[in-house]
Amino acid sequence: MTRALLFAALLVPLAALAATDADISRLLRERGCALCHRAAPFQAEKEVPPVGPSWSEIASRYRRQPGAEARLVAVVLQGTKSGARHWSGRASGDAMLPNKVEVSEDEARAIVRWILR
Ligand code: HEC
Repeated sequence: MTRALLFAALLVPLAALAATDADISRLLRERGCALCHRAAPFQAEKEVPPVGPSWSEIASRYRRQPGAEARLVAVVLQGTKSGARHWSGRASGDAMLPNKVEVSEDEARAIVRWILR
């Protein structure tokens, strides 16, 4: 029993540090993010804009900005201002509602780290 407990105690902090792609895909589905966001960039000539910007476009825009992680975690939890249209022409132009009911701050941070990786 003690060995199992020790093993569990070791696993939890490791999981919190390094979420795998599979963990993140599951979170994106279970927390609803995947309903509005997808991985592949929007192809203007072939399709109508998706509801939210793609993960790859979010990454290219913010990856090199200092403080992007903290800012995007706050945006994920609190949503965006109506009418701000941060993604004009690349997404619907709708605001994102707050996600803090669906997602914890730790989960939001793990997702944002994965987006910006
Ligand atoms: C109902 C649709 C919807 C859901 C669900 C949703 N988003 Fe969004 N998201 C949007 C839209 C629309 C935008 C663009 C907002 C804007 O232009 O102001 C956006 C923008 C973003 C951005 C970029 C913000 C910026 O400042 O450029 C990130 C990061 C993001 N979403 C992550 C997430 C995560 C993580 C989840 C799940 C917890 C999630 N979204 C769930 C619609 C959604």
